[in-house]
Amino acid sequence: MGTAEIKFIIKQLGEKKAPLLQVLLAIQDATPGKYLSEEAVNEIARILEVSRCRVYSTASFYSEISLKPRGLHLIRVCTNSPCENAGKEEIHNAIEQELGITIGQTTPDGIFTLESVNCLGACFMSPAIKVDDTLYGNLTPESVVSVLNSFRKEQSYGCI
Ligand code: FES
Repeated sequence: MGTAEIKFIIKQLGEKKAPLLQVLLAIQDATPGKYLSEEAVNEIARILEVSRCRVYSTASFYSEISLKPRGLHLIRVCTNSPCENAGKEEIHNAIEQELGITIGQTTPDGIFTLESVNCLGACFMSPAIKVDDTLYGNLTPESVVSVLNSFRKEQSYGCI
């Protein structure tokens, strides 16, 4: 993402009055690969007149923000107690086995990135995951593989 686009987004959010986290999320969402590049971090710091270190430390503190490119679909596995007690480990293992990646990695075909999150706000349907903006709950190892396959099918039909 170029300087002009970053400036435009920051201006839309109220320039220097904009909360830093909101700026980072908005720029990340508008960036292909849904991440913040080093150049973007530098530009944000320059435009907002804050230290690079502050932008970087905020970006690295929040699990919602990535400093490396993500795959086409972002899978977030909840790691909090209600999901843990409802069988999160089996779900997590099924995803890792099916995709051949671990938390923080992207599949070689660039389709999925796997991340963990503290709570998805969907404890009533534990164990839960989120793929992009959609929640999936009451999962079993079999049903989570079906969820992954539905995204693969979309991909193979060019529906993304
Ligand atoms: S504990 Fe898993 S969604 Fe809240």
